[in-house]
Amino acid sequence: MTSVRTGNSLASFAREIVCARCQRRFELSELLNLCACGSPLMVRYDIDRAKNTLAKSTLSDRVASLWRYRELLPLQSEANLVSLGEGYTPLLEAKKLGAELGIGRLWIKDEAQNPTGSFKDRGLSVAISRAKELGVTKAAIPSAGNAGGSFAAYAARAGIEAHVFMPRDTPIANQIEAAQYGARLTLIDGLINDCGRIIAERKTAEGWFDVSTLKEPYRVEGKKTMGYEIAEQLGWRLPDLIIYPTGGGTGLIGMWKAFAELEELGWIGSARPRMVSVQAAGCAPIVKAFEQGKRAAELWQNANTFASGLRVPQAVADFVILQILRESGGTAVSVSDEAMLAEISRIGKAEGIFFCPEGAACVAALRRLLTNGGIKRTDEVVIFNTASGLKYLDVIQKSHH
Ligand SMILES: Cc1ncc(COP(=O)(O)O)c(C=O)c1O
Ligand SMILES: [Zn+2]
Repeated sequence: MTSVRTGNSLASFAREIVCARCQRRFELSELLNLCACGSPLMVRYDIDRAKNTLAKSTLSDRVASLWRYRELLPLQSEANLVSLGEGYTPLLEAKKLGAELGIGRLWIKDEAQNPTGSFKDRGLSVAISRAKELGVTKAAIPSAGNAGGSFAAYAARAGIEAHVFMPRDTPIANQIEAAQYGARLTLIDGLINDCGRIIAERKTAEGWFDVSTLKEPYRVEGKKTMGYEIAEQLGWRLPDLIIYPTGGGTGLIGMWKAFAELEELGWIGSARPRMVSVQAAGCAPIVKAFEQGKRAAELWQNANTFASGLRVPQAVADFVILQILRESGGTAVSVSDEAMLAEISRIGKAEGIFFCPEGAACVAALRRLLTNGGIKRTDEVVIFNTASGLKYLDVIQKSHH
């Protein structure tokens, strides 16, 4: 494919950074984590200017990666681009699985086809590119698994010293890949929030930039491109329903932001999909808060699931996730590990795609919503396979015993 390189400037229309809660504004030239009020920061674009110079027809001959949307991404100079070909993954029609479930139009966004085998590459390509642009030389990440491996890969390519903190029982593939990419890997007897706390305590003394999801403004920018791609791949319309396996919620929040930007550009209308969050029964803080009508979620105690990406007891942007689920008319569903395990082999047989447990959770949720009337058989549905099942060989094998 063609290269993303087109000259010195990427012609980004990013204008400023704004707090998701208190609306305080920041300059793009600042290296930022959370707002002083403790909330995530979001990039705002000059969409009016983008409207006049960017036509959706120009996308057709662009690079087959998320950098095809470079005007709507925050990177200022191509010299700082750190890319391994992430994004622009296929939207695969799931005819057999759809027929088995009794639904007419079912699509799989197959994120397993990213460079390190998960959708985390989107956020980390953009975040590491911007970290490089803003002069970061050492960075640290707390990870439930896939983000740690992805971060290590992009940091290696950027020449940034990488420190990865993961739970000790993270799938072995994630541990090995992080080390092979040259990261300093620390295994913790605890969960991702414990890893995050250790980084917060040590980062000032160590000089680490904290790349925790939604605690810096750029991973969500990378993940929003899943929303652009669904719209582009469906011919600039959106499905009736998106089912997304939710840990920190970065992808869900990113897609919702993407749809607003696309509407402002005039590329799509005001219709939105109902957004559905899926979590594991053993760690479902968003589902619980949604069902109780709360605006924020509580820390989930004793989180336990083999879907390591869903073992996130607390999300810093929980209030944003809950707002999106309600505003979109969507819902939140939890499914058991047994249900995920059963779906992995069903999907494998039906579609020839080796799903990760988190992706399989979407199918289990879909099956449930079709039985209890939450979804009509005529609805068009997009589900996510957020990573390759190959990353979970040890935990899948263990779960079968
Ligand atoms: C495979 C997989 N799916 C889903 C998630 C949850 O993603 P998010 O943090 O965007 O909610 C993760 C996060 O670790 C993951 O690794
Ligand atoms: Zn704020």
